[in-house]
Amino acid sequence: MRNTLRITSLSIVLATGALGSCTTDSDSGARLWRTRCAACHGADGAGRTRFAEGRPFADLTDGRWKHGSDRASLRRLVADGDPASTMPPFADRLAPEEIDAVVEHALKLAAAGSVGAEP
Ligand code: HEC
Repeated sequence: MRNTLRITSLSIVLATGALGSCTTDSDSGARLWRTRCAACHGADGAGRTRFAEGRPFADLTDGRWKHGSDRASLRRLVADGDPASTMPPFADRLAPEEIDAVVEHALKLAAAGSVGAEP
């Protein structure tokens, strides 16, 4: 009896966990950022990783943009990549709404990072 109870509550926990992972766009943006972008750009978007060494524009938090700072420019770059750098194209790996979500997250990191930044 006790075991049955424990198994029941365990499956409730698992079911809620699964539901929780596909909630809002900002959640999936953060998750995509962690799995697809953070290795190069860092969890905070400041690009302090060895993949971004010598690539100052991998820092998304310094307020300087090579490819444009607006949403449309970010979307275009993330979809097409930059053949002149290691920034890969994601159009064939992410759905358009996933690109939207991860770009939204990148803009959030950029805004958070530039607060109090040196000019
Ligand atoms: C293999 C490493 C790598 C991965 C993975 C990667 N990037 Fe990049 N990214 C770079 C580099 C390097 C640059 C700088 C490009 C340059 O110097 O032109 C860059 C540039 C950018 C820029 C433009 C910055 C500017 O100044 O205009 C954005 C936005 C960006 N990445 C977003 C993303 C997002 C979002 C992801 C995940 C979906 C991602 N990147 C994944 C390496 C990477």
